[in-house]
Amino acid sequence: MPALYVKPTPPTDDKRWKIVETRMRRMGDRPEALIEALHAAQEAFGFLDEGALLYVGDTLGVPHSRVYGVATFYSFFTLRPQGEHTCVVCTGTACYINGAKAILAGLERDLGVRPKQTTADGKVSVLTARCVGACSLAPAVIVDGEVQGKANAGDLVARLEAM
Ligand code: FES
Repeated sequence: MPALYVKPTPPTDDKRWKIVETRMRRMGDRPEALIEALHAAQEAFGFLDEGALLYVGDTLGVPHSRVYGVATFYSFFTLRPQGEHTCVVCTGTACYINGAKAILAGLERDLGVRPKQTTADGKVSVLTARCVGACSLAPAVIVDGEVQGKANAGDLVARLEAM
């Protein structure tokens, strides 16, 4: 007799879980949906906490070790609460050689924030990504989901400070 399947329940009764649940169901609740499901959870909640990782893993039948592996491997996933705004600095090759390092140095110098950190006032979280697909505009940053090419530290800091 097959074991009785009990559908995992979301970690909280927050309505945003419905969005995540629907996304997973559309993908057939299969292990292949892991990255998309983690994206859905992060979009809905801003970051992935332990409850989210375990719930997604259980629903899709993915071992927790793998879920953690994926969530920590890809730099677009974040396991901490984020600030009001997000600034992703691309550190892929094209961006790196065109100034990403100087941008990160500027953010640290002027806003006191390093990658995977949030400014002390909780306003801006800084993340890095390996390549955001805008190499011809290198160095690229993404502020609140909007790609900005030919970025420089001075303009970026001014923009973030004005937010
Ligand atoms: S390396 Fe930065 S967009 Fe490709």
